[in-house]
Amino acid sequence: MKELTELINAYSEALKEYNLLMSGEADADFRQMDSWGEERNEMALGDNMEYMLHLIKDCGMASKIQVVYIDPPFYTKEKFMSSIKLHSEILGDSKVLKIGAYDDHISESLEVYLKNLAIRMMLIRTLLKDSGTVWVHLDRRVTHYARILMDLVFGADNFVNEIIWTYKSGGASKKTFARKHDNILVYSKTDQYKFNILQEKSYNRGFKPYRFKGVKEYCDEVGWYTLVNMKDVWQLDMVGRTSAERSGYATQKPEKLVERIIESCSDPGDICADFYAGSGTLGAVCARLGRGWILCDNNPAALVCQMERLNKDKDGFTVKASGDWPEGKAEMSGDLITGYEADLENVTCSDMEQLQKFMTEDGPCFIRITKRVSDETGRRVYGYDILGNRFEQVIE
Ligand SMILES: C[S@@+](CC[C@H](N)C(=O)[O-])C[C@H]1O[C@@H](n2cnc3c(N)ncnc32)[C@H](O)[C@@H]1O
Repeated sequence: MKELTELINAYSEALKEYNLLMSGEADADFRQMDSWGEERNEMALGDNMEYMLHLIKDCGMASKIQVVYIDPPFYTKEKFMSSIKLHSEILGDSKVLKIGAYDDHISESLEVYLKNLAIRMMLIRTLLKDSGTVWVHLDRRVTHYARILMDLVFGADNFVNEIIWTYKSGGASKKTFARKHDNILVYSKTDQYKFNILQEKSYNRGFKPYRFKGVKEYCDEVGWYTLVNMKDVWQLDMVGRTSAERSGYATQKPEKLVERIIESCSDPGDICADFYAGSGTLGAVCARLGRGWILCDNNPAALVCQMERLNKDKDGFTVKASGDWPEGKAEMSGDLITGYEADLENVTCSDMEQLQKFMTEDGPCFIRITKRVSDETGRRVYGYDILGNRFEQVIE
């Protein structure tokens, strides 16, 4: 069976690469861009494999993280978009612009996708405390393969739960039952993992009081209920169109969902991480619940969203970026500068006409890289327009 061969190859290739990475010198080049406060909170822009290596090798973070939640691309082969509106004092407000949020069609094959996932699981295991747990959020497409990979990386005995997150939103097909759940695989690093039991309401039959001796009963607007240990099927709404927590970032997960994860397996003061952080849901929850947080995403749009969502003055955090970050050369004097020519030798940009979000010394801004020319010294010189440093994510 082709898929099984791909799975086995993916695991053994990932293991080889992991051993190579761990035995060699770290070449992950993450630099600090900015820092507010002394808190152990950090957001990083760059590939999460390199960032995890940087945490392990340069920051002494092996065995320091209590909970890792990851919500990687689901192997959907889709491209997710984000809508934004720019503000410029000179030009006024722009129309709604669609820019790529992230791309889930880049893995050419199942084998490449699974290898990438497996190597990240191995790095996560190294970062976890002995009392730590990892939560991997996927759906029907690859959960079954991920479960086998996690058995191999964490040990089948360390399987804790498969959480079924069920919701109402989304469409339905005429050929299947409506697909209304995601799967979250939970594994521990050892059998001594931290677990705080959470409780939920269980309504009595007929919503009437039972009056059993020694059983505490409560009543709300629906009726009488008791409190029971939480089950592994969680019915929680997706982030709604009008929800206050909505950031506009595609595939944002609800804070309620991440809250259960953080509360059940960590305590205040612990450090939790999300290496596919998107809009920064885990950071927002941890900030509220008194946990330290570490976020990483390779999409500048995600970093900008996280910076807006988390409060640098209140929560205090450090921003890091990997080597191919432009060096704050974009001098901003006013709201808009066009035709500013500069040496952007270090910028890696696959599509020269694409709108990109970058950080500058003045904070996040949008840059459109317009042309590529050579100057008299033969160096590569790019022209770019800075289109605005204030913007909003538009919720459609
Ligand atoms: C499903 S979204 C996460 C959404 C997030 N849970 C939230 O609540 O907003 C997946 C994220 O993984 C990021 N990503 C994909 N591959 C990555 C990689 N190799 N390194 C870092 N981030 C990556 C994407 O840019 C995207 O933002």
